[in-house]
Parts: sequence; C-alpha cells; structure tokens
Amino acid sequence: MTNPLYQRHIISIADLCRAELELIIDTAGRLKATPQPTLLKNKVIASCFFEASTRTRLSFESAVQRLGGNVIGFADGGNTSLGKKGETLADSVRIISSYSDAFFMRHPKEGAARLASEFSSVPVINGGDGANQHPTQTLLDLFTIYETQGSLEGLKVAFVGDLKYGRTVHSLAQALSLFGCQFYFVAPQALAMPDYLIDELREKGIACSFHQSIEEVVDELDILYMTRVQKERFDETEYQYLRSGFVLNTDMLANAKKNLKVLHPLPRIDEIDIAVDSNPHAYYFEQARNGVFARQALLALVLTNHFGV
Ligand code: CP
Repeated sequence: MTNPLYQRHIISIADLCRAELELIIDTAGRLKATPQPTLLKNKVIASCFFEASTRTRLSFESAVQRLGGNVIGFADGGNTSLGKKGETLADSVRIISSYSDAFFMRHPKEGAARLASEFSSVPVINGGDGANQHPTQTLLDLFTIYETQGSLEGLKVAFVGDLKYGRTVHSLAQALSLFGCQFYFVAPQALAMPDYLIDELREKGIACSFHQSIEEVVDELDILYMTRVQKERFDETEYQYLRSGFVLNTDMLANAKKNLKVLHPLPRIDEIDIAVDSNPHAYYFEQARNGVFARQALLALVLTNHFGV
C-alpha cells in the first residue's frame, strides 16, 4: 500500500480528504504511544518563519528532533536576504529547498505557502499564511478532538470569538464538515464567519446556527473552541459590551456535558478566565502539546513512504 501523503505539499486543509486526515490522526496516536527517535535520521528540515510564532515553530522543530532529524532555518524573516535585500520569495524558496528535504513556513501574506510550493523542489508545509489557512493547527485540533471524544463523527462544536479573521476556525470547520458535525457560531456581527464558508458548509448539508453568547449553547456541546476577540477592531465601549458574551468563566461550565472539552489554538489573552485552567473541561494546554505529535505524524508521512500505512 502506498502512502498518499509521501512527498506532498501541505498547503490547505481542503487539499486533504477524509481518509488522509484519518491516516494522520492515527499516525499521531501511534507516535504519541511509541516514539520513533530515528525515523528522520539524516533528513534536514528547514524552519522558515516570516511571522511571529511560539507553538507552531517550536512544536515543528521539536517534532523533527524527536524523530531524529536536523533543523535549519530562521525565526525572523526580517533578518534574511528577503527581508533585508529584497530577494523574492520565489528565489528564497529555490535556495532553501536545495538545502533541505522539506520545509515548513509561516508568512503574513495569504497565498505565500501556495506560491512557495510552485518554486520548491521539496515538500512545503504551511505553518500559517495570513488570515487564510493554518492546516497543521487543524491537524492537531482534530487529533485532540479524536483523543478526547473517541470519534470525530457527528459532534456538536461551537466556535467562539473572531470567526471572521481566525484562520484556525476556517480550517477546522472545513475539516470537521467531512465528519458530519453540527456547528454553533458565537461571535459579534462584525466578526461573523465569512459568508462563503457558511455557504460551503450548508452545501454539504452541515447544520449551522448563530449566537451572541456562550451561555446560549454551552450545555449542548462536545467541543467549545475559543478564540480571541481582537480588541483593536472595536472602540473601548463596544469592546467591553461585546467581550462579556465571549469570555469564558467556570460558572458558564456548571451544566456542561461531562465530555465537553474547551479548546483554544492559543495564545490566550483574556477570553478564558485563568480559573478555567484547572477545570476538568479545560484541554487547551494538552491540545498545544499535541502539536508535536500531529506534526511528527505529518513529517513521518511526507518524508517516509512506508511509515503509517
Ligand atoms: N496556535 C498557534 O499557531 O500559535 P503560534 O502563533 O504561537 O504559533
């Protein structure tokens, strides 16, 4: 059996079918249970961050090293020949790919990873391109949801906060739509889910509903996926009014179903009260740790033909 992800670029979650997502989730579980410290021996992976990151960059680099590979790269794209001397992204990619077996990148512009894949001689993995896509965040989210619920099928999932610009929400909703989930969108009108995504979900027969506070929906949910409401998008009065419906505290979880897990791609600012951190429903720090296993799985499948199949 061939591995369908071998030597593939991973740019958008929409490029992956349900069977491929299940393969990655299964592989992540096996790598979490049984480390493979030599799987990427003699492989060189480039880590190229043109935009700030803590979790994505460090979990990718940890994933490579825990699989026995080597990392080259930069955390500050401003201090490269692209940033300082005006080299094009296309030329930079040609060079980086000639030094490595694969590279992962984050860039502030939508479409940058797709462009890079057109000039790269090795697989490109998108670590986030502007407000567009963050497919590896979705992979770790799916792995975490599967780990906590035992299935991805037919779950009731609420997305809260900035649903307009939140690339993690867009990617995760697209992926979970392959598993017949039901969605609750909890956001101020100014940060509502884009119409094109709602249309896409409805065309697939996915039930979507829209809400102005977490309390309206929390008791029905399996997954409560929090994101940050961005203060800079509102004046102070409007922000203070809005945030009251979008800040999670422990009282709101009093009647939640036992299996409910609260997730957040992080960084958190103040949209989850720190008292929630010790509540049994909180799972966002474990979710962030799962980034190492989900990214190990992706690297293992993209760089080795027979692992995972
Ligand atoms: N969740 C996430 O992408 O975090 P970073 O921006 O720190 O990588």
